[in-house]
Amino acid sequence: MRKVTYVLKVGGAALTDKKTGRSFVSKVSECVAADIRKGTRIIIVHGAGYGAHRFVRSKGMRGVADNQADWARLRRNVSRITATLIDSLIDHGHAAIELSVLSMVRTGAGRITGFNLYPVKAYLDMGFVPIMHSDAPPDSKYGVSVLSGDDIAVYLANRLRAKALIFGIDIDGIRSADGSILKSVKKQNVGKLYTWDVNDVTGGMKKKLAEIGKLNPGTSAYIISLRKRGSLSKVLYGRGAGTKVH
Ligand SMILES: Nc1ncnc2c1ncn2[C@@H]1O[C@H](COP(=O)(O)OP(=O)(O)OP(=O)(O)O)[C@@H](O)[C@H]1O
Ligand SMILES: [Mg+2]
Repeated sequence: MRKVTYVLKVGGAALTDKKTGRSFVSKVSECVAADIRKGTRIIIVHGAGYGAHRFVRSKGMRGVADNQADWARLRRNVSRITATLIDSLIDHGHAAIELSVLSMVRTGAGRITGFNLYPVKAYLDMGFVPIMHSDAPPDSKYGVSVLSGDDIAVYLANRLRAKALIFGIDIDGIRSADGSILKSVKKQNVGKLYTWDVNDVTGGMKKKLAEIGKLNPGTSAYIISLRKRGSLSKVLYGRGAGTKVH
């Protein structure tokens, strides 16, 4: 029998307030670590947060090669988010380890053209929780190009035939125009949903929903809040939470 695999995208929208830069990294890390039971086969991809969005807004998606020192410093800051997540997970008994997207992925004009899945699968099979983040891998056209955590998460969910891809943000799910949270949406309808723009450099909710539309038929997506305990565990072990896209 196929082992049940989950992919969790810990969104930049959960980790930092996109307007003020306020950090929720410790709080979100604690929620994630406490909500996952030991032995769950799960991969975590986290967003880079406020600093990375600011960098890309000012230098562009292809600006890494021309601003190497700035990017290197920023990437160092992103690794602090990874470290906080890993610390919380280890404190809760999970063998969380960082895997570098740069060493596994290649892109061409910003799209994934190669992904060495061996390390991801090998560590998952041993019971580790692999963690990676949105990054800027080598790109055959641009030298280096920013790759969103959503793209990484969708790619992994499809290739590993995940049962679900869970997007954790700052809101309890997809909000409709009347303010209520949608419980369930069909993949073919994601393009019609109401969204607003938060100036997310990798396309925000609109692009996230378009990517969700590309998931394998067997993989559901959930959009939940990661700023409070319980929603993630309801998706993993209960009857679901937030918005389910199936
Ligand atoms: N209909 C909607 N329902 C819920 N959130 C929405 C909707 N439309 C837009 N949003 C916005 O989308 C944001 C989440 O998407 P966004 O791409 O900004 O975050 P993220 O993917 O978590 O961050 P990152 O790309 O940094 O990892 C929420 O913070 C919310 O403000
Ligand atoms: Mg985003």
